[in-house]
Amino acid sequence: MDSNTHQACYPLIQAVLPAHEHFAFEAGEVNKTLDTCQKIWQWMTDCGFDRQSLIINLGGGVTGDMGGFCASTYKRGLRFLNIPTSLLSQVDASVGGKLGVDFNGFKNHIGVFNEPESVIISASFLQTLPHSELRSGYAEVLKHGLIRNENYYNSLKTQNWETQNWKDIIEKSVSIKKEVVSKDPKEEGLRKILNFGHTVGHAVESYYLDTERHLLHGEAIAVGMIAEAYLSTTHIRLPKEDLERIKDTLLTIFGKVEIPAEDIASITQLCFQDKKNDGKTINCSLLKKIGECDYNIAVSTDDISKSLEYYNDLQP
Ligand SMILES: NC(=O)c1ccc[n+]([C@@H]2O[C@H](COP(=O)([O-])OP(=O)(O)OC[C@H]3O[C@@H](n4cnc5c(N)ncnc54)[C@H](O)[C@@H]3O)[C@@H](O)[C@H]2O)c1
Ligand SMILES: [Zn+2]
Repeated sequence: MDSNTHQACYPLIQAVLPAHEHFAFEAGEVNKTLDTCQKIWQWMTDCGFDRQSLIINLGGGVTGDMGGFCASTYKRGLRFLNIPTSLLSQVDASVGGKLGVDFNGFKNHIGVFNEPESVIISASFLQTLPHSELRSGYAEVLKHGLIRNENYYNSLKTQNWETQNWKDIIEKSVSIKKEVVSKDPKEEGLRKILNFGHTVGHAVESYYLDTERHLLHGEAIAVGMIAEAYLSTTHIRLPKEDLERIKDTLLTIFGKVEIPAEDIASITQLCFQDKKNDGKTINCSLLKKIGECDYNIAVSTDDISKSLEYYNDLQP
């Protein structure tokens, strides 16, 4: 667990666990590193864990990704189970078997695919999750509706979105991600639709990473989903009414992020980093309609700039 889930979540399950040892690392993505792994592997060694041991990862995506990676590599692999406690980790990181850590500034650069013994999710953990983190996870929930299920998208709340049936939402979102991942476990095709909003969103997220304008993942993805919904209208004929609806919903929930016009060129360049491309085109996942997504749509630097200008011109 991390320092926050140690305080907020561990007390909820401590009493029902069998005899165990526990370890908490300092919370935060900055600690999702090999340095922290070394501490975790050392702790496992000190405790004398062996192939009979079971590791339980209690926390958000950072805990699940790094704890799972440490378990999978220690003595060539211990069994582990995940108890994701943030909305993001419940609806996204909990499915798909991607484990790992950041390395020298590269996100999720070192890692493996491996499945936990099981994943246990309870919406009751969300009660202590900071509001901004809940909203960040909600971006992925909205994405699931947009790419795969129009009825689900229509059922999701825009006003008072904080109060809704999270248990049902988690179940539905997990089932969507599971269905997509099971059809394409290694991301050779269909799984790419889960990247909707992430080409532009990741670039916005990285651009402001070390600045005071720093955005949470879901906040950046909300910008990315508006920009990519715009690209969907120009590239694969997403109806204009759908773009309007998506933009209204996302602006209501996430507000408008000010992206200074002079930042657009640099953000655009970031979209073209570390993906297979010639520096001029990139493959995006875009919407045909609400509830249906297509992938490998070639988009140019110019198109990306235009989509960010479109976002910038929106009225908050
Ligand atoms: N493996 C995957 O497929 C996958 C998918 C998406 C994201 N991720 C990874 O997940 C990470 C992001 O996940 P995250 O947003 O959960 O980050 P996180 O683990 O840092 O959690 C966010 C914050 O919420 C706190 N927190 C979590 N649960 C809490 C609770 N119930 N009560 C109070 N505080 C709580 C954490 O301590 C942390 O401060 C990134 O590292 C990302 O790369 C992995
Ligand atoms: Zn995401």
